[in-house]
Amino acid sequence: MCGIICYLGQRPAVPLLMDGLRRLEYRGYDSSGLAVFSNGSIESERALGKIKALEERLQGKRWPARGGIAHTRWATHGEPSERNAHPHRDCTSSIFLIHNGIIENYQQIKNRLVAKDHQFASETDTEVLTHLVEDHYRGDLVEAVEQALRQVRGAFGIAVMCRQEPDKIVLARRGSPLIIGVRNGEVFAASDVAALVSHTKNVIYLEDNDIAVLTPSQYDIFNLDGADTLNRIETVVDWDVREAEKQGYEHFMLKEIYDQPASIKNALRGRLIEDEGTAKLGGLAPVKDQVLDMDRLIIVSCGTSYYAGLIGRSVIESCTEIGVDVDLASEFRYRRLNLKSGTIVLAISQSGETADTLAAVREAERKGVPVLGMVNVVGSSIARETLAGVYNHAGPEIGVASTKSFTSQVAVLYLVSLLLGRRHRMSVSEGQAFIREFKSIPEKVALILEQADHIRQVARKYRRFKNFLFVGRQLSYPVALEGALKLKEISYLHAEAYAAGEMKHGPIALIDENFPSVCIAPRDSSREKMISNIQEIKARRGPVLGIANQGDAQMAHICDDLIEVPACDELFTPFLTVVPLQLLAYYIARENGCEIDQPRNLAKSVTVE
Ligand code: F6R
Repeated sequence: MCGIICYLGQRPAVPLLMDGLRRLEYRGYDSSGLAVFSNGSIESERALGKIKALEERLQGKRWPARGGIAHTRWATHGEPSERNAHPHRDCTSSIFLIHNGIIENYQQIKNRLVAKDHQFASETDTEVLTHLVEDHYRGDLVEAVEQALRQVRGAFGIAVMCRQEPDKIVLARRGSPLIIGVRNGEVFAASDVAALVSHTKNVIYLEDNDIAVLTPSQYDIFNLDGADTLNRIETVVDWDVREAEKQGYEHFMLKEIYDQPASIKNALRGRLIEDEGTAKLGGLAPVKDQVLDMDRLIIVSCGTSYYAGLIGRSVIESCTEIGVDVDLASEFRYRRLNLKSGTIVLAISQSGETADTLAAVREAERKGVPVLGMVNVVGSSIARETLAGVYNHAGPEIGVASTKSFTSQVAVLYLVSLLLGRRHRMSVSEGQAFIREFKSIPEKVALILEQADHIRQVARKYRRFKNFLFVGRQLSYPVALEGALKLKEISYLHAEAYAAGEMKHGPIALIDENFPSVCIAPRDSSREKMISNIQEIKARRGPVLGIANQGDAQMAHICDDLIEVPACDELFTPFLTVVPLQLLAYYIARENGCEIDQPRNLAKSVTVE
């Protein structure tokens, strides 16, 4: 999705803004641009495509700029093109504006502005906002922005600058994140902490309907609906800058796959009470009684986070009597749900900014049920809008395809299961056995990573196929869904996932020698049925890549290829079976020359509905 970075201070602004844009690249974008204060004027440049294209446009331009705004665009209104790229300017090239989000009533506003002779150069909703600010400008930018935003419906995070008011940037947010970063004599703003952490860890998260005025070394925050100055708390971000860098790996995705032994450990750190065989989740303390006494849990999430939720459902149900529903956040809001007391909603989102999940959170809050969050990005909208919650502590995830966020979400859901399980039917010794098994998982994941070369060989063999079927049963079914999603996201190959029992109800018709199946069949209680499913595929000449436990001679015999994972308790298999699928997707995409960290059409943080 779109990204924003702004700077005001004493250092040359262009290299700082360009560095910020590079750090935002992972969010997904199709064009970029910037505008800077320079010698009493504003200079601007935009380019279609990669940041490199903008860099080339800027070559030879020696603007003495000490402040400006920059943007990566992910097209919503109007095709990806230079003229649709941000910043947009008003009729007199005085006001420059960048925008994340969507202005829903842009067409009505545009019609009014066209009638007043405003000249438009793009198809974007953002340009409409720029002219609307111009329309209200009477020598005070803050006032003009406030008045313009009162007429706007939709979501926005904006940064605006004006030639007549140098060294000032006005920010405003509603539904799209904006963060101010401060450092001695300098002020930054961005839509994402990742763009700031190399400069400062001291940040202020703007809230909906905040308007902020930045000048070099200072910021003031007001409310869009009134003039009061607001005191927002300064937070120290706990991200290490190195974590947001590749550290010698060819891609962020590969680094993040390799981060998993550590990120799973981080999810558990300080949260296991071994003596009592239970878990401690400090973030849930304010709602502890409600959580322990709930009888229904509804998990809402999207994409990979939804698949983590499906695993969570099975594990919570196996440890407790609580009924668990998992809903796609984009559908939850349309349901006519009767949410009785005793129900809790849990929103899972690594970014904490997914628009659909945020909408589901708000809908559940309107229905009066307690809403908890599980997010990775500290201070994100979902973290702030939920009653209480648990952080993943997985560190920044930059690759668009989620890997370590997924296993971290799953790990936290296991902690929740343990906590609730001990309240329900789990004994101390069962809790302790659960903890012992859980603690062994990071090392087992590390052992799988040692097989990367073998998985790469397998990927070389399978890269030529255009279609894949992923199948699994019970806990391996969400793993199959996640494996298929990883493959389609980054390699653009068609992959679909089914609960293996569903195969005979339709998908088996697809099977032939050109349609391979990835069959997830660890030694669990449904393994025998999985073996039968694999036989059915083989009988139709379908190639089979099996994911099985080490030393499983029967799987080695019936599958064409095998990736082995260490043995573990049945309940914990998803941590181990998903890792080979992440590597398989990665190596197939790499072998096919696909752009892995920023796959086409995708964005890291999906802030539109
Ligand atoms: C896939 C992926 C997406 C996200 C989805 C929700 O690799 O990352 O499917 O899981 O967009 O994002 P969050 O978790 O940020 O709400």
